[in-house]
Amino acid sequence: MSNPSLLILPGDGIGPEVMAEVRKIIDWFGAKRDLQFDVSEDLVGGAAYDKHGTPLHDDTMAKAQEVDAVLLGAVGGPKYDNLDFSVKPERGLLRLRKEMDLYANLRPAQCFDALADFSSLKKDVVAGLDIMIVRELTSGIYFGEPRGIFEEGNERVGINTQRYTESEIDRVARSAFELAMRRGKKVCSMEKANVMESGILWREVVTEVGKDYPEVELSHMYADAGAMQLCRWPKQFDVIVTDNLFGDLLSDAAAMLTGSLGMLPSASLGAPMENGRPKALYEPVHGSAPDIAGQGKANPIACILSFAMALRYSFDQGAEADRLEQAVETVLAEGKRTADLLGDEGATPVSTAEMGDAIVAALDASL
Ligand code: NAD
Ligand code: IPM
Ligand code: MN
Repeated sequence: MSNPSLLILPGDGIGPEVMAEVRKIIDWFGAKRDLQFDVSEDLVGGAAYDKHGTPLHDDTMAKAQEVDAVLLGAVGGPKYDNLDFSVKPERGLLRLRKEMDLYANLRPAQCFDALADFSSLKKDVVAGLDIMIVRELTSGIYFGEPRGIFEEGNERVGINTQRYTESEIDRVARSAFELAMRRGKKVCSMEKANVMESGILWREVVTEVGKDYPEVELSHMYADAGAMQLCRWPKQFDVIVTDNLFGDLLSDAAAMLTGSLGMLPSASLGAPMENGRPKALYEPVHGSAPDIAGQGKANPIACILSFAMALRYSFDQGAEADRLEQAVETVLAEGKRTADLLGDEGATPVSTAEMGDAIVAALDASL
């Protein structure tokens, strides 16, 4: 049988820096666990624009549709701020998500013990935290029509449309309930049914889907109250299911519960393919971090943990995913920290590459 295929799209800013560390991890699994991947690499975002004048070349899109999984670094940066909207780096990522139909975006927020002191929240609020945000990723206000900037009388109007069909809500709700069945058996759905019709429909459909999962306790929250509860007592949650925009905001907020945006991985999953596995793209939740790009300061853990999610969700290698997550835990417990995990106390941070090397060393020690 041929090796599973992996398309790597490092992207912009710190994307290539963190991806270089993931390459070390991939090589380690090939050499030490006999887990080989057919790895190919291509451009996305600003890097693709610089070469092709588009943030995602059609050939790259086609490759992404064929491989077993895509691993992406990050896209965007100030260099591209003034580009026409249609060719901005972010459009490349959105096209991948939309055309691969990756409707369920899993964004876990887990607080590693070693970092419980570092969160801006009190230790007992975050210690042991393990929640999963399921963000709808291919619809809602990100893609709804009409959209655009139009002339209206003597001024312009900017329009985006929040739009959800029942089937779009149904399928992402099912993903959330399926995950909850394998976790803490709780789903909290967040919308704003108090002000938005799409929220009313969201609540109705999620409630309906919930009837197929009688073992799972379902609750509903307005998304603004949900944001407050995430900061107040996040451990009340197990799985949160929410729309595209609320999920974007809530997952950045959840990142800080874990200490840094540099810690949060994600998996974007579509419907199962013929081989039973979902179409999948794995990426850190963070962006291209232009403020620290090119300085060896980026935390590669979010991207490395995204590869761990690929091992679990695309390659049936749950035990190896556990091994990699444990290696990250070990390195953090040893006190190794990139700058984002240190605050201003003046301790010496490790570089991006040193963090990657330390995780490889911890993997070696796990054998
Ligand atoms: P960002 O996530 O790039 O950065 C926010 C802050 O977090 C910065 O201070 C940055 O230094 C820090 N940070 C992020 N990742 C880090 C890491 N791994 N290690 C250490 N520190 C880290 O968000 P932004 O500044 O709002 O956006 C910058 C660009 O990235 C924009 O063009 C935006 O559109 C894009 N973006 C891309 C993605 C993606 O590719 N998935 C996600 C978010 C933002
Ligand atoms: C994310 C990012 C993206 C989003 C951007 C870069 C398109 O913020 O992945 O969280 O808004 O979905
Ligand atoms: Mn975001």
